[in-house]
Amino acid sequence: MKTYKGKKEISLNVNNEIYKVIVKPNETLLNILRDKLELTGPKAGCENGDCGACTVLINDKPFKSCIALAVEMEGKDITTIEGLKKTKIQKAFIDKEGYQCGYCTSGFIVNAYALLNKYKKPNETQIKDWLNSNLCRCTGYEGIERAIKKVIDNR
Ligand code: FES
Ligand code: FES
Repeated sequence: MKTYKGKKEISLNVNNEIYKVIVKPNETLLNILRDKLELTGPKAGCENGDCGACTVLINDKPFKSCIALAVEMEGKDITTIEGLKKTKIQKAFIDKEGYQCGYCTSGFIVNAYALLNKYKKPNETQIKDWLNSNLCRCTGYEGIERAIKKVIDNR
């Protein structure tokens, strides 16, 4: 790892590609993804760990990238919504209209993907509890839940 005046060069494994980036100690993973790697699927909402719009997978677990320091991400596998193209859950969100304005959608899809990896057939309570980590101010959540259930029903 090279060090530059107060900054470090690090390697990030994002969507199975290695990126070399120079980061400041206080830069968030969200900012690096969006501003340096041009992966703009993760969105900046609250930037305080509350809304989930910035959710990515870190070693297959959902994590809010606005509260993750980029400098701590070396050696971890990071997956953004760009890495989940054409997955069943992404298609189900389209089919079941799990979005309106779409601002929260990438975070919900990433989070739902992790739910469906953890449980083969999550029940209603598990789905609702899991989705508590993300906020949507448009959909009323019905379309989001329909999308998840569509994937479950086809298992
Ligand atoms: S922007 Fe990260 S949780 Fe809201
Ligand atoms: S679809 Fe608009 S905030 Fe969720």
